[in-house]
Amino acid sequence: MIQNVQGSRKLRGTVELPPDKSISHRSAMFAAIAEGESRIENYSDAADPQSTLSCLKQLGVQVESSDGYVRIQGVGRNGLQNPEQDLDCGNSGTTMRLLSGILSGAGVKCRLTGDESLSKRTMKRIITPLNSMGAKIEGRDGEYAPLQIERGEGIRGIRYPLPIASAQLKSAVLLAGLFADKETEIIETVPSRDHTERLLRLPVEVSGNTTFIRSNRNHPLPRQNYRIPGDFSAAAFWLVAGSIHPDAEIVLEDMGLNPSRTAALQILQQMGADIEIAVKEDQFDEPMGTVTVRSSGLRAVKLDPSLIPNCIDELPILMVAMCFAEGRSEITGASELRHKETDRLHAMERLLSAAGEKFEMRADGIVIQGQGSHIPENTVYDSEHDHRIAMSAAVMALMADGVSKIEHAECTAISYPGFWSDLDRLTR
Ligand code: S3P
Repeated sequence: MIQNVQGSRKLRGTVELPPDKSISHRSAMFAAIAEGESRIENYSDAADPQSTLSCLKQLGVQVESSDGYVRIQGVGRNGLQNPEQDLDCGNSGTTMRLLSGILSGAGVKCRLTGDESLSKRTMKRIITPLNSMGAKIEGRDGEYAPLQIERGEGIRGIRYPLPIASAQLKSAVLLAGLFADKETEIIETVPSRDHTERLLRLPVEVSGNTTFIRSNRNHPLPRQNYRIPGDFSAAAFWLVAGSIHPDAEIVLEDMGLNPSRTAALQILQQMGADIEIAVKEDQFDEPMGTVTVRSSGLRAVKLDPSLIPNCIDELPILMVAMCFAEGRSEITGASELRHKETDRLHAMERLLSAAGEKFEMRADGIVIQGQGSHIPENTVYDSEHDHRIAMSAAVMALMADGVSKIEHAECTAISYPGFWSDLDRLTR
C-alpha cells in the first residue's frame, strides 16, 4: 500500500496510544506458563503480539479475547505441548527469541519460523548461551530461522556476562533459567529494558548490574493480572512530530514511562523540547502517565552511547528530530540498528537522502547537520517494510509543503495499527 501524507498546518489533539508491544508479549508468555487464569487488560492487537498469541495457542494454551481483556489459562511450566505445525513468529524477533528461552527450558520439540525479514536476523546470540545451558537448538547455517528445538538433557544455570546490550537476549537466558537446576546470573554492562524482571516478579532479583533468577523449577509460577500501558516507542513519533511542528499540541494518554525505555524523553528534553509529564499512580508493574508535547525550537545533541539500549527503537525518529535541531547532532555506538527488522542505519540513510538532509552515515551511527528547513514535496519514501521507518518517514512528510508518498505503509500494523488514522485526526 502507498500512503499519501499531506504536509500539515497543524498537529493537535489527543492520542490513545497502542498498547506496549514488549510488555504484551511478555505478559502472554508468562501467563501461559503460570498456574491458573491470568487476565491481561489492553493487550495489543498489533501483528507482533498477535504472533505470540497464535504460537501459544499452538502450544496447547487456551487464549480467549473479549471485553478488552485477553484471558489465558496457564498450563504451568511443564504443560506446554509439542505443536503439530511450525510456530510462525511472523516479523517478531521478541516472539522468536523469548519463546526459544521458554521452549528449550520446557523441552518442547518444535520448529520456529519467521517472515523474510526475521529469517535474515541472526539468532546466534541466543543459540550460543541457550545451548551452553544444555538446550538443543539449531539454526539454518548455524544462526538463522527456522530454528529447530529438540528436548535436551535439562537446563543448567549459568553465569553469563551479556556480550550485547539486548533485552531480548537477556530475557531468553532468564526465561531458560526458570527451568534450570541452579541459579542463573546475568551481568549487564549497559542496562537494557527491564520488563521481564518487573513482570516475572517472583523469581528475579536485581543487584547493581547483575540479575539473578533463582532455580525454582519445582515451584509453580503464580497467575497474575496485567494491564498494558501505551507503547512508549509508538508515542515517540508524536513526541518528535509535536516538538518539530510549528503549530502542535498533542496529548498522549496512559503512556508507558518505564525509565529503562524512556531515554528518548530525556534526550528530547535535553534538546529543548516542551514536554509535560503527569505520572499516574503505579498500580501494576509498569509506570505510566499522561504526556503533553508542544511546538518548540530544538537544539542539536550528542547522544551519550550508554543511553542507546534505552532508546534503540526510537533512534530512527530521533534522527528526524535532529534534522530540525539547530547545529550538529551525533549518534555513536548504535551498530545494533543494523540488526533490526531492516538495517535501520541504511534505511535511514535512504530516507534522509530522499528528504534532502545533510548528514554523514557511519558504521555505528550518524552525524546530522540540522537544517530545520524546507522538506521537498512529491518525495517517495520506501519504508522497506519496516514499521518504524514508515512512521519516521510520515513525520518527515508532515513537515513538507505538499504531498509525499510512503511505500509499503501497511507495515505500521506490526506495532501501531491505528497510526495512519491517528495521523489523519491530528492534522484535520
Ligand atoms: C525488545 C528489545 C529490543 C527492541 C525490540 C523489542 C524487547 O531488541 O529493539 O523492538 O521486547 O525485548 P534488543 O533487545 O535485541 O535490542
